[in-house]
Amino acid sequence: MRRQPAGQQRERIFIEAGAIVRAAEYLKEHAENSELFVLTDLNTHLHCLPILSALTERKTILHELELPAGDMSKNPDNLSRIWGWLTSHNAGRKSLLVNLGGGMVSDIGGFAASTYMRGIRFVNIPTSLLAMVDASVGGKTGINFNNVKNQVGTFSLPYAVFIDPRFLNTLPHREILSGYAEMIKHALIFSEEEWNRIRYRSIPDSEDWTGLIRNSISFKSRIVQSDFRDRGIRQSLNFGHTFGHAYEILSNEAEPDKVRHGEAVAWGMLAELYLSVRLKGLPAGVLEDYVQLYQRLYNTHTTGIDPQRLIRKMYSDKKNITGSVRPVLLRNIASPEPEIISDDILLQKAIDFANEASVSEKV
Ligand code: GLY
Repeated sequence: MRRQPAGQQRERIFIEAGAIVRAAEYLKEHAENSELFVLTDLNTHLHCLPILSALTERKTILHELELPAGDMSKNPDNLSRIWGWLTSHNAGRKSLLVNLGGGMVSDIGGFAASTYMRGIRFVNIPTSLLAMVDASVGGKTGINFNNVKNQVGTFSLPYAVFIDPRFLNTLPHREILSGYAEMIKHALIFSEEEWNRIRYRSIPDSEDWTGLIRNSISFKSRIVQSDFRDRGIRQSLNFGHTFGHAYEILSNEAEPDKVRHGEAVAWGMLAELYLSVRLKGLPAGVLEDYVQLYQRLYNTHTTGIDPQRLIRKMYSDKKNITGSVRPVLLRNIASPEPEIISDDILLQKAIDFANEASVSEKV
């Protein structure tokens, strides 16, 4: 049976085409004084909020706060804006915050809700593939701080997550690819069967998403249930992220939102699979298969970043013990293991490998 953290209600996840209708029913039922607080970004303000507000009918009052789109919005100023907005509308302990958007919205919205008045209820309605399969489920909330991603946050489960794959129909292909990287990651760390399916598959069309998302989330949910606070096995979800985060932060520092999170993770998995072969005996064929998949789907060229800067950034990652880098590597498909590395030459080789694999001709 799933063990819930003390004081937490269980997260309920609804995945179906039309989940937004179910979400509206749920919100009407649970809105305190018929008032809902809805956090959006520019895209969801334009394309998703009108759908939700039509479904909740006029008697529900929607207070909206729109943040600028993009991961850069996950910052202390915006967190303070959300608290101020809730305060100015007299949100109370029983209020409900709806995070309508991608990972930025559910991360910062979840953090704001879990700290406002020591915690109010929140519901996630993810609208990007990345948020559907990763950010909106599992209860991690947070903001970036001092140039470190997700440096400050809480573990706090949403009351419910409503995943409506129809929102993907209007998502740019690049956003789909970004989320797809997390699905590939789930396959590599959890299931040989899923990996064997995913490595040949092309990006599904809109009809196919429901089952795939359900599958991908089920892998993550199992891990979250056994290690909610990320002290052990949940860290396997960081596969690809040690190198990926460094790449993402340094690229976006130079040019905001230049690299999508999933694109950086897809690149990071190149480096970490290379290290898996070198240090864990992962069969080289798995790395070759991944390189082929990467070259077929992703169009990210070399990071264009000095490898030494990437290495320094990795050392400053909050998950790393001082003086070492701590990626999760794979002994085999579905067999992740943490590793401690303090050999800069090896780290540089992994970066060089990933960069070279990125610029090869697409197959
Ligand atoms: N996104 C990684 C985790 O939820 O643990």
